[in-house]
Amino acid sequence: MVNLGDEFPNFKVNTTIGTIQFHEWLGDSWGILFSHPADFTPVCTTELARVANLMPEFEKRNVKVIALSCDSVESHSKWIEDIKSYGGHVADKFPYPIIADEGRDLAVQLGMLDPDERDKDGLPLTCRAVFVISPTKRLKLSILYPATTGRNFAEILRAIDSLQLTENKKVATPADWQSGGDCMVLPTLKEEEAASLFPKGISVKPLPSGKSYLRVTPQP
Ligand code: BEZ
Repeated sequence: MVNLGDEFPNFKVNTTIGTIQFHEWLGDSWGILFSHPADFTPVCTTELARVANLMPEFEKRNVKVIALSCDSVESHSKWIEDIKSYGGHVADKFPYPIIADEGRDLAVQLGMLDPDERDKDGLPLTCRAVFVISPTKRLKLSILYPATTGRNFAEILRAIDSLQLTENKKVATPADWQSGGDCMVLPTLKEEEAASLFPKGISVKPLPSGKSYLRVTPQP
């Protein structure tokens, strides 16, 4: 199990592009690792195709993408043909690697097993985990979905925008924020410091408590 802020494990794994050592593969990029219960399953196929189609969005944000499923590289390579066909990019080289976690070693290490979903041999499958890793190899975000709920990758891109912004600027992003939208000044920031950091201005929302903690500023 990896907690937010922890160094993400530097595992060595077989993938559809050969053996990789995770940190070296990541280099100076951000990374997203997303897991799947099994190959040749319907929801997973839609998810992998969606991510393949969103690759320009991940690249724009300097994010390397890697998927994981508990089957062999040989099985993944056959499945990729279905994913490409479903996603409508048949002629293209598949744009990101898929980890072959046949022994479920990574699934156990990263706390990704879903006890409610089992394969034909009764072994638990991996849930739909999402891990976003920073260039410093720290875990910045993790989300777990059950096998029966496909992910919304537009939301994951939105969350990456927030992570990348708040890494450098002393703001937090409010509910349903989209890149370019107003942000919240960090509650820990003193008034004088906030005024100098956010020259575009800060508006304090009046609240029944009389406390001035809801400070809004244009995205820095
Ligand atoms: C799917 O990808 O469709 C799926 C996989 C395992 C359990 C339920 C759904």
